[in-house]
Amino acid sequence: MPDIESLLSEKRVFEASREFRKNAHWGRKQVAALRKEGEKNPVRFWEKMAREHVDWFSKWKKGLDWKPPQAKWFVGAKTNVSYNCLDRHLTGSNAHRRNKAAIIWEGEPGDTRVITYAELHREVCKFANVLKGLGVKKGDRVALYMPMVPELAIAMLACTRIGAPHSIVFGGFSAEALRDRVEDAGAEVVVTADGGYRRGEPFALKPAVDDAVSGKSPVRHVVVVKRTGEGATMRKGRDLWWHELMEGASAKCPPAKLDAEHPLFILYTSGTTGKPKGILHTTGGYLTHVTTTAKAIFDLKEEDTYWCTADIGWITGHSYVVYGILANGATSLMYEGVPTHPGPDRWWDIIERWGVTIFYTAPTAIRTFIRLGDEHPKAHDLSSLRLLGSVGEPINPEAWMWYHRVIGGKRCPIVDTWWQTETGGIMITPLPGAVNTKPGSATLPFPGVHAAILSEEGDTVKPPDGGFLAVTHPWPGMLRGIWGDKKRFRETYWSKWKNSTHRGKDRGGVYFPGDGAHKDKGGYFWIMGRVDDVMNISGHRIGTMEVESALVSHKDVAEAAVVGRPDEITGTAIVAFVTPKGGKQAGTALTKALRDHVAKEIGPIAKPKDIRFTEALPKTRSGKIMRRLLRDIAAGKETVGDTTTLEDYSVVARLRGDEE
Ligand code: PRX
Repeated sequence: MPDIESLLSEKRVFEASREFRKNAHWGRKQVAALRKEGEKNPVRFWEKMAREHVDWFSKWKKGLDWKPPQAKWFVGAKTNVSYNCLDRHLTGSNAHRRNKAAIIWEGEPGDTRVITYAELHREVCKFANVLKGLGVKKGDRVALYMPMVPELAIAMLACTRIGAPHSIVFGGFSAEALRDRVEDAGAEVVVTADGGYRRGEPFALKPAVDDAVSGKSPVRHVVVVKRTGEGATMRKGRDLWWHELMEGASAKCPPAKLDAEHPLFILYTSGTTGKPKGILHTTGGYLTHVTTTAKAIFDLKEEDTYWCTADIGWITGHSYVVYGILANGATSLMYEGVPTHPGPDRWWDIIERWGVTIFYTAPTAIRTFIRLGDEHPKAHDLSSLRLLGSVGEPINPEAWMWYHRVIGGKRCPIVDTWWQTETGGIMITPLPGAVNTKPGSATLPFPGVHAAILSEEGDTVKPPDGGFLAVTHPWPGMLRGIWGDKKRFRETYWSKWKNSTHRGKDRGGVYFPGDGAHKDKGGYFWIMGRVDDVMNISGHRIGTMEVESALVSHKDVAEAAVVGRPDEITGTAIVAFVTPKGGKQAGTALTKALRDHVAKEIGPIAKPKDIRFTEALPKTRSGKIMRRLLRDIAAGKETVGDTTTLEDYSVVARLRGDEE
């Protein structure tokens, strides 16, 4: 495993100030006790969290029912996510939150909206009634394909209110990607917008929906939010304006009493094959997990203004822009546009103007800002900040130190949080009032989360050696399946260690996240990145196979192999090795055509940074592409390891020659 040595040399340790520790929700003593409980009896620990942080209409009969790989949490209990995010903040001892900001929204052009809890509740009830009016019933899937506007959060909460699982498709994905996801989930209603703003310009979103639902499609209705006013083609009978539907809608809509295991949402993520996986999350366990972790890890207090920069289209936005934050009655800031518009200091300006106290972002953004220069954050008063967070990929110690010094003014603890679309909520993380941090380490599992480093065979790896990260006991926010594909669910996540010796009783019950990691002697976890064919581009997962299938679907491509290479800003950059069809001219025109083609098939985020044309790809004698070699070539590294199974070494020599 690479990087073990360099990471191990990290000796710096940071402790939160005495004041922070004193005021934190979870201090040292409490965390020690909670860890003990979580270690001894994780189910009892999570039951306690569920009682403390979630309101239930009726209690569960059993904390966990575990028949690997199928888990049921809080069996028989009833609750509602929108009730927990809204209604409970309007009455009784929480009534002071009625007129508190739930969402502070800033559009890229500078327009703003502040939505209180009472207003958000009203809007959500109205849209829930709109959905009902369109024939959406409990269990029906609704696709949301939207820019970062408050209506996205409203639509999500409205879905949860009536028990219609949502499937959010990131607004940067293409029509093709949207079509696949809508069809896989069988969504009959799509909520979208005419467009949004990016880099100072309006962009259109509705045409992609028109494309995606053309021909045979399960979609009956498309609801369109008017954001840019640039116009949209509306098909009579199918397409409806949000504002027109909302005008007549009633603001009374009691929350459905849903089973704890009722499907809450599907979110598609990349895997090692071409087809994205619809990760399924359910109601009670997920809500318990995100509410507890948001409160403890971000130390959320009544007076905080919390800002997570993630788009709601990703899991981070689901769990820590919307659900976990609103369930705690906190104020969540949402920003529509790019970080550098109109200038490189937009984010710092937002922090200063709104008095943001907690800021959660991704290493790729931090690295971009390092490059842009310290003068931009330094031109702003960032003294409102008291806590910083990082998520999405390993944060290199240099970026961590810059974040600590330049953004945090050396006073803000940094929580480096490891988790995934599949885990639903944060799994490995510092608790800011209780755990000292080391730059580059996500530190320790959250109480009640059981994690280990295992070998290929499933044996425990002793520190400080590297191995595979594993989760050895079910947790409440865990995925409950891949939509429509039980076999893939079992094979992808639960089959690596069928005979693990880690714990005899966990046969077939150890979760494989796909990451490499090691522990240091102090027991801290250091995540080393993906060990499968998934690339982490700017904190977003893209499968190599997905990009390859997009490339070979182009008429001029015979064969393609895609690998990641380290990139200073985005963490990993996509490099494609392409063999054009006989007679086709390799060159800049084809490079551009292929990049555009990938953007059309998947989205701009998946465009290869580098395309290299080659007459042949290095293959084993059995015909498998040797990606390891391509990875080395893409990174400009010497090829190490065994090449004896290679079919034709001259292919590699030529590829290397091409580089010079
Ligand atoms: O490789 C890990 C990396 O991101 C992957 C999960 O990606 P996704 O499902 O898109 O969710 C991202 C946001 C939760 C993981 O398998 N990853 C995420 N957080 C960290 C990380 N790697 C290192 N350190 C982290 N803090």
